[in-house]
Amino acid sequence: MEKTFIMVKPDGVQRGLVGEVIKRFEAKGFKMRGLKLIQVSEELAGQHYAEHKERPFFPGLIAYITSAPVVAMCFEGKNVVAEARKMLGATNPADAAPGTIRGDFGQDIGRNIIHGSDSVESAETELAVYFDKAEILEYDYLPSKWLFE
Ligand code: RTP
Ligand code: MG
Repeated sequence: MEKTFIMVKPDGVQRGLVGEVIKRFEAKGFKMRGLKLIQVSEELAGQHYAEHKERPFFPGLIAYITSAPVVAMCFEGKNVVAEARKMLGATNPADAAPGTIRGDFGQDIGRNIIHGSDSVESAETELAVYFDKAEILEYDYLPSKWLFE
């Protein structure tokens, strides 16, 4: 089964959307493998968003991500990387469809509530950046037998 890295960004935490995000992932049937509230350092944010280093929005992005605590999560499920990106919606909330997290709760690309890995490879890299191995838990998830034929 695939794993992905999901992070409720500082605006999502401050706006009380952590429960809403977890509710949607739980209801979809994705298995929570890791969860923690953390203050992201500049170094960690730089590692996470290294691919955007040369972009004009990079300094603002780092300031945003380090401005207050975030909730880092690992979810497991069938095609969870792509499925989670659908649940998040377009990067710019103005373009995100209703029914998606960004579409339902966001207005500004610089305050888009949530992060989700964009590929299986980046999920692996990002999970390693944010979590120790021991923080990704293995356990029996009883709904599985009701989710798949
Ligand atoms: P994320 O990595 O946070 O899940 O978002 P994403 O894949 O949908 O978008 P990405 O291109 O990776 O951009 C990373 C984050 O940078 C901020 N951003 N600001 N002002 C801008 O033009 C701009 N473009 C991107 C957003 O917070 C975006 O989520
Ligand atoms: Mg991205």
